[in-house]
Amino acid sequence: MLKLEGVSAAYGNVPAIRGVSIDVGEGEAVGLLGANGAGKSTTLRAISGLVRLTAGRISFMGQDLASIPPYRVTELGIAHVPEGRQVFPEMSVQENLVVGSYAPRAKPERARSLELVYGIFPRLAERRDQLAGTMSGGEQQMLAVGRGMMLKPRLLMLDEPSLGLAPVMCDVTFEKISEIHKMGTAILLVEQNVSRALSLVQRAYVLESGSIIMHGTSAELANNKQVQAAYLGI
Ligand SMILES: Nc1ncnc2c1ncn2[C@@H]1O[C@H](COP(=O)(O)OP(=O)(O)OP(=O)(O)O)[C@@H](O)[C@H]1O
Ligand SMILES: [Mg+2]
Repeated sequence: MLKLEGVSAAYGNVPAIRGVSIDVGEGEAVGLLGANGAGKSTTLRAISGLVRLTAGRISFMGQDLASIPPYRVTELGIAHVPEGRQVFPEMSVQENLVVGSYAPRAKPERARSLELVYGIFPRLAERRDQLAGTMSGGEQQMLAVGRGMMLKPRLLMLDEPSLGLAPVMCDVTFEKISEIHKMGTAILLVEQNVSRALSLVQRAYVLESGSIIMHGTSAELANNKQVQAAYLGI
């Protein structure tokens, strides 16, 4: 469904990712792992059209993404939940969710999507009128994921959804992502919490200094000595 072939991207003259090739199948959950600065967020930004490619191609359901603006990428059904839960603090929870459904593909389904998101995240339903900026960190993370779901995405890209969350909240977040995946949404998950990520995804890629150094099934990676030493503390 999503295919990156030899993708490179740079910020100014400084290369950030080089020759990255990734596949995500329909309804699949795929992980993108790696240390700080490896290029994980840049890869998601490249898919969303937020950084310019210097080489390679990206296609989604057969359509070339390189030539279309970010809002059109959204329109194709790719939701990007960026790192650092960027909710609109001065807007209510419900207003934030509604913003997620502005794309023409999602607008007619808005009421149903709200019901769905409130079903997955009852906490958001309870607090629908609260200003997003006054929600706790974990609640804001749920809101960011919920806003992504409002697009009725075919592919949901999540950038470190568990970052900064207490262990219990982290568990909840992963449960919710798993629930969303089981409803048929493909997931591309960026995570530093490698053991948790591998328990959710079917396959994963490991990025190091801007390049993919390894990929395999979750079981293969969990049993890989290099992955164990570098990311699993074994
Ligand atoms: N806006 C920017 N301008 C210049 N360089 C950037 C910018 N954003 C990222 N970079 C650089 O690109 C490289 C990849 O960064 P990226 O944010 O993709 O890493 P990451 O894997 O998401 O790291 P983290 O786990 O810390 O979020 C890094 O060397 C980073 O310093
Ligand atoms: Mg990042």
